[in-house]
Amino acid sequence: VEIVFSKVKWYISGTGFYLPPRVVSNEEMSKYMDTTDKWIQERTGIKERRYVDPGVGPSDLAIPATEQALNAAGLTVKDIDFIIFATSTPDYYAPGSGCLLQNKMGFGEIGAVDVRVQCSGFLYGLSIAEQYIRTGMFKHILLIGAEVQSTAMNLTTEGRDTAIIFGDGAGAAIISKTDENRGIMSTHLHTDGRYVKELWLESPSSKSGHPRITGKDLHEGKQYLQMNGKEVFRHAVTRFPEVIWEALDANNLKKDDIHLLIPHQANLRITQTIQKKMGLENNQVISNIHKYGNTTAGTIPIALGEAVEEGKVSKGNILVFASFGSGFSWASAVVKW
Ligand code: UT7
Repeated sequence: VEIVFSKVKWYISGTGFYLPPRVVSNEEMSKYMDTTDKWIQERTGIKERRYVDPGVGPSDLAIPATEQALNAAGLTVKDIDFIIFATSTPDYYAPGSGCLLQNKMGFGEIGAVDVRVQCSGFLYGLSIAEQYIRTGMFKHILLIGAEVQSTAMNLTTEGRDTAIIFGDGAGAAIISKTDENRGIMSTHLHTDGRYVKELWLESPSSKSGHPRITGKDLHEGKQYLQMNGKEVFRHAVTRFPEVIWEALDANNLKKDDIHLLIPHQANLRITQTIQKKMGLENNQVISNIHKYGNTTAGTIPIALGEAVEEGKVSKGNILVFASFGSGFSWASAVVKW
């Protein structure tokens, strides 16, 4: 039997995003740790980030983002065939946040899967959606990127290099089948597990014995996200341009064809270095890190949702997404809007 891969096209039919209302300024951070607004802005470009109140998880942040995306697509929960929930900070160890969202929003008894690829989670999710739509299995997929990072931050001077960067937030996109000549052109995925410990969260751990987290672990701060910022930075500024060129080459595109590059928002200096290395103009590159910090799997769908809301994206535009983060894992995607 000959297997013919379908030529089904798929596109982003709706976007949405949501940030928790509590704004945490650099000034406020300087009350918890030895840091300054000047240092944070100069080294990262961040002015403020958002933190949830206790009791709010990524599945809660995902609700308003999803409602907005469904509205934009002209769909309801009944139309969605599958949920992909990208998060590195799930509400619970088990079950996944996608399962929680299914219940909270009254989706049908559809499948829901969590994707844990940290900063690249949204793009990995996009590539998974791609496969389901291409095979004809599903027509509309809800893809979320949502994080509550604030509760994994060590808000003392010891944790200052990491704590000033991360924030909470959620973005959503609906991925739909289309007959038009538009949509997602390709996705590109990579990992290199040699660098696991350069950016990781060690505890609780299923392999650490009973219980999964001990008083000693807590005392050593293993419940906090640990980052070797310099090493991550060094790899990021190489991998980003590499994976963006890979995506352009795969589609016979040139850098001038990019209407908007939406890179994962990790540090303004990383984004500026990518722009410089690739020779892109200011208006080709999206940056919103000053408002939200790094929301891990949330950054790309939040930035995309904002760009759409601000009217920066028109039908036919070429958009490129790119990410790099914990793993190390990195990815890119090209979209004809
Ligand atoms: O989501 C994807 C993964 N994340 C990233 O891509 C992040 C990549 N890394 C970074 O963004 C940067 O490495 C950081 C922003 C985390 C750190 O910036 P840096 O320019 O690499 O600073 P550094 O770690 O080299 O530290 C320089 C100095 C140090 O002091 P000494 O040793 O020179 O005396 C740090 O102790 O700055 C100090 N420092 C701070 N000072 C004030 C570190 N954090 C802070 C702080 N406030 N928050």
